[in-house]
Amino acid sequence: MPIDIQGSFYAKIFDKAISLLKDQGNYRYFNQLTHYPSFLPVAHNSALGRDVVIWCSNDYLRMSKHPTVINAMINCVKRYGVGSGGTRNISGTNDIVTALEKRVATLHEKESALIFTSGYVANQGALAALGKIMPNCIVFSDSNNHASIINGIKESKLTKEIFRHNDMEDLEMLLKKYDKDLPKIIVFESVYSMTGDIAHVETICNLAEKYNALTYIDEVHSVGLYGKGGAGISNEKGVHHRINIIQGTFAKAFGVIGGYIAGNANIIDAVRSFAPSFIFTTTLPPGVLAAAISSLEIVNAADDLRLQYKNTIENLKRSLREYSIIFQDEGTHIIPIIIGDAFKARTIAENLMQSGIYIQCINFPTVPRGKEMLRITLSPYHTDQMIEHLSIALSKNLHQ
Ligand SMILES: Cc1ncc(COP(=O)(O)O)c(C=O)c1O
Repeated sequence: MPIDIQGSFYAKIFDKAISLLKDQGNYRYFNQLTHYPSFLPVAHNSALGRDVVIWCSNDYLRMSKHPTVINAMINCVKRYGVGSGGTRNISGTNDIVTALEKRVATLHEKESALIFTSGYVANQGALAALGKIMPNCIVFSDSNNHASIINGIKESKLTKEIFRHNDMEDLEMLLKKYDKDLPKIIVFESVYSMTGDIAHVETICNLAEKYNALTYIDEVHSVGLYGKGGAGISNEKGVHHRINIIQGTFAKAFGVIGGYIAGNANIIDAVRSFAPSFIFTTTLPPGVLAAAISSLEIVNAADDLRLQYKNTIENLKRSLREYSIIFQDEGTHIIPIIIGDAFKARTIAENLMQSGIYIQCINFPTVPRGKEMLRITLSPYHTDQMIEHLSIALSKNLHQ
């Protein structure tokens, strides 16, 4: 029998942790939403008993609802079952995972790629492995990097230098401190997940070459959307061949799940051999891998869908301006409206939900305190009517 925690000091510890979050407005309330399997971005809110339009999904191209991708998963599950049966070491590497790795390497024009169970795990595992492989390496990390990067660097136990977000002078000042012969790696995102701004990828490559550092880019929010065939921002800027490790996900624009890194064969082979979160966990199920391959193939060829997406984003931004809604425009698909107060952001999100609009408010620790926001993302399938409805509702909530 476990000890009964009710009335013990354990209960007080857990209750206190929760009430602290509630007092600060940072307690996470999950909305009960069931997404429909259609391109239209609509879900059913069972608590309200109504449908709502989704304005905050990372399934950017609605690929999770694509009939071809769905069929790829179903057919694969029928042939191979739902699970992979273990780690790749124990259970064997099936042909589907190898095929997906080849596709990813081709997409990014790299020699090799390695699949992880998620984008989070890819960052955590790859960075931890780099720490084991190069224990004297110095990591230079953008201050706005995602939690998975921060945790990967922690796990790597490497000496770290945090440069001010997108501040290239600060980065250079930090790089200068170290001997040119010491191993170094600069870690950054291409499109920053919350603010939607883009890294100075070319300058980072210049600095890396000047100071003899490796480069590691998280393209999680850009793969599928930017660059040739959706190969990301580093590709769009024509500098992908100057990046040593490109990390990405199948969970956002590809609409499935799973993460990866791509790079030189020897880097990938070393990470494969040293990353605990690759070695000691079960491989993604074959059905998921088949869906990822199918989605990647479709998205890779879908320049028309990328154009439609761009146009819809521009329509939304134009409409928001017409209704005098202030938002951060970094020229990407991520559109933050800063509210600056956790309680206010939550109240606005709740009001919007009542009007059939779903935008989750983003609070600390995902963003710093005082930067609480509504982070709007959309799909190529949001209609003009939906855009107008959103603009009017936001205007009512923000301008009263
Ligand atoms: C910048 C960034 N990197 C990595 C991840 C993790 O990706 P995944 O959702 O595939 O685990 C996220 C998730 O939102 C992210 O925003």
